[in-house]
Amino acid sequence: MKAVIPAAGLGTRFLPATKAQPKEMLPVFNKPTIQYVVEEAVNSGIDDIIIITGKGKRPIEDHFDKSFELEYNLKQKGKLDYLKEVQGISNLADIFYVRQKKQNGLGDAISCAKKHIGDEPFAVLLGDTITYSDTPCTKQLIDVYEKYGGSTIAIEELPERKIERYGIVDGVTVEDNIYKVKNLVEKPKLEDAPSNLGITGRYILTPDIFDKLESIEAGVGGEIQLTDAINEQENVYATTFEGTIYDIGNTMEWLKSSIDMALTQEDEVKEEVLDYLRQKVQEYQ
Ligand code: UTP
Repeated sequence: MKAVIPAAGLGTRFLPATKAQPKEMLPVFNKPTIQYVVEEAVNSGIDDIIIITGKGKRPIEDHFDKSFELEYNLKQKGKLDYLKEVQGISNLADIFYVRQKKQNGLGDAISCAKKHIGDEPFAVLLGDTITYSDTPCTKQLIDVYEKYGGSTIAIEELPERKIERYGIVDGVTVEDNIYKVKNLVEKPKLEDAPSNLGITGRYILTPDIFDKLESIEAGVGGEIQLTDAINEQENVYATTFEGTIYDIGNTMEWLKSSIDMALTQEDEVKEEVLDYLRQKVQEYQ
């Protein structure tokens, strides 16, 4: 299976940080966001990856490219741990880049991958969303896809205050944590929401999605919406993701993700972060 990582969006919610740098390159603790995303695909068994880029997204390509000068420098200085890490990034996967010419929405970004994907199901991992779990989120989706065979969406249970910001699932339970989707509603008002199950940014899509994307009209915000195209598909499932998910395009979630990732590091780092947080809680109480 191949994976598509859309990363061409403007990142307006994170201005001014994203004025001259891609939001997908914002560091979460010590790695850029999109490296976590590529690692999730690789850890789910996918090593053929298409990143959808756009204007100003060049640092993403440079990050996954080989850097002879840097490697030479690190070798000369005997910084062999860093050398190994830097080399590992450029060897992670086969990565291809396709440019989205105009930021016409997530659906339009996915359309840009049509030629490379062909007639196979494929994974989609939003380039600004990272997940943390024992079994990678995309692997959890592949397992459900292999059982039910239709497009499959990762969802999470949302608190009420978040519902109006997400695509929400209207579905019927087929087994514990798995739903057959009847309809997806993009950013509903709380009172109109069919459930509290929100779309998280990880999908397995069957290739008929490309025809659906071509046939739909622009939706919310004048953009080609992926949820509108999925609504045109016959056989769609959703499964509750077991783990934590962070939308890095949202400043608070970015901050929380950095703290959480620091807490997954070795004991020394973890203790320093915890000491700092305890000190801040005391100061502000
Ligand atoms: P978002 O809707 O969060 O991205 O898309 P955005 O448009 O950059 O966000 P704001 O609202 O302006 O802050 C989720 C993912 O889809 C990509 C984004 O790069 C992000 O990784 N995307 C979005 C595209 O590739 N193309 C688009 O036209 C829109």
